[in-house]
Amino acid sequence: MSDIEVNDLPDVQLAGPVITVDGPSGAGKGTLCQMLAAKLSWALLDSGALYRVTALAAKQHAVAMDNEAGLEAIAAHLDVQFQVSDKEAGVQVILEGENVTSSLRTEETGAIASQVAAINSVRSALLERQRGFQQSAGLIADGRDMGTVVFPSAELKVYLTASAEERGQRRYKQLLGSGNNANLPQIIEDIRARDDRDMNRSIAPLKPAEDAIIIDSTSMSIESVFDQVLQAAVKAGLLSE
Ligand code: C5P
Repeated sequence: MSDIEVNDLPDVQLAGPVITVDGPSGAGKGTLCQMLAAKLSWALLDSGALYRVTALAAKQHAVAMDNEAGLEAIAAHLDVQFQVSDKEAGVQVILEGENVTSSLRTEETGAIASQVAAINSVRSALLERQRGFQQSAGLIADGRDMGTVVFPSAELKVYLTASAEERGQRRYKQLLGSGNNANLPQIIEDIRARDDRDMNRSIAPLKPAEDAIIIDSTSMSIESVFDQVLQAAVKAGLLSE
């Protein structure tokens, strides 16, 4: 029997460690994940953006919300790139050659995304694409089912939550700060409706993984949340003090 040459071995990139951050919308996951990725120099997966892009592509191609096969095909063949060419401008999302960054984060896109995300075949179509973000350096994965479904053996799992009123207040201030009109009771109602859809769907519902640390950020600053997660990362051996 001949020896195996190193060159004959399959080119498998070693999967690095993963920290998952799940929780409802507006709990501060996005900011926390960006802080963690910057601190650790790890890659970042914003899985919500994939569901949002699927929603936008469905709208663009006039695929109805009850056309499951059509939505699955859209999710399976997404032509999307996440580009970071200018640090100031942040990640730019390019869908089928068009920059869709500004329409990605609207309430309307979020609401359609949460309907699309309740469809089993759409979730399956996006599963491998999400796992493909894993890198040898490490990955911070932001979403709803990162610790329960996509990366069940993650080294550290965080579930970040806050009351619907507090999350509504944060969103309200954000909208006013960027010069938009906003109606606080309506925002809180929308948040509750989205929570309800995300938590009560039959497939991959939003819930903490059994081994997740749960952080309620209702009366915490994002810096204290960040410190708490860093301490947990030290404890898990992912970083030294
Ligand atoms: O996090 P973000 O608000 O961008 O997510 C938009 C929607 O996508 C969520 O309300 C949720 O329904 C869905 N989503 C999901 N699973 C994920 C990430 C997002 O179902 N991992």
